[in-house]
Amino acid sequence: MITLTDIAYVRSGVADLGAATRFATDIVGLELASPTEAGVAHLRADHRHHCLALVEGPSGVISSGFSVADSDALAAAETELERSGLAVRRGSADQARSRRVREFITFDDPFGNCVELVSQQESVARPVAFTRPAGITEFGHLCLDAPDVHEAYRFWSTRFNARVSDWIGDAACLMRIDPVHHKLAVFRSDGPGLCHMNFQVASIDDVFRNWHFLVSRGVEIEMGPGRHPQSTAIFLYFLGPEGFTYEYSFGVRRIENDAAWVPRTFDPAEAGSIDMWLGPVSRPSSQAQLTPARAAGGRRSMSATAWGTATGTNSGAQSASTRSAVRSR
Ligand SMILES: [Fe+2]
Repeated sequence: MITLTDIAYVRSGVADLGAATRFATDIVGLELASPTEAGVAHLRADHRHHCLALVEGPSGVISSGFSVADSDALAAAETELERSGLAVRRGSADQARSRRVREFITFDDPFGNCVELVSQQESVARPVAFTRPAGITEFGHLCLDAPDVHEAYRFWSTRFNARVSDWIGDAACLMRIDPVHHKLAVFRSDGPGLCHMNFQVASIDDVFRNWHFLVSRGVEIEMGPGRHPQSTAIFLYFLGPEGFTYEYSFGVRRIENDAAWVPRTFDPAEAGSIDMWLGPVSRPSSQAQLTPARAAGGRRSMSATAWGTATGTNSGAQSASTRSAVRSR
């Protein structure tokens, strides 16, 4: 059993690094770390050196990072994953430096999502210099795609310390690795990808101020403001460049009595199961995972009814060149 101690980062490939970085700073509000590497923008939201790295190149998610306790835990995880039949690769020193971790390993989950396990992610002591006052308090969670969320749960709960907090039918599995209701979610889709990256904000006022701000800047709101009955979080999903969905949320449930919590199942077709306030719901669009084998890529989206009934469809166009491997990045 591999113990994930926290989420670490998302690494995303962008064809237009300038535009994606401007959105992450001027719109989302993140701090841009001092550039130290050509073609990579490190974005900061909390104590981590960065939680989002935008990497110039093919458009699509490169990897999602999770922390383990230390080097010994990382070595043990490497052995355990290899024994289970997964192909595990060690990151180079340069790659670790780019991620601001001491060392890391990388592997594909059974659905093709590239996952990285890291040890000793760098912290920065000084307060975050947010570009605008969005109220961000921390990198809250990340959400991956898989064609079968029950199979995904089997993977994350047997190999790792992830426990389901709640199910949204066959459409989503919300998992915790600490008392936060979910730091990892898996949404159903036809292929691997990153559904969204969440940032917690300090108050309900921040959610609504951000909503007005985003609307005034012409940003596409994907869903919200609304309130999820599972986590009780007040949410706002919005679309950034190159199909990358961001989420602000406030008020996520904490499960302090782990042993007493019984996961619940919500039918996504029932009114209020996604948004207790009964606003319009739609499945946030995903940024496809970059892999050499992936036959199609780009932004995927699902209709509102697809929460409960169907897999996603590819709506974005991506050239053959953008589907090339980015594993060396
Ligand atoms: Fe979320």
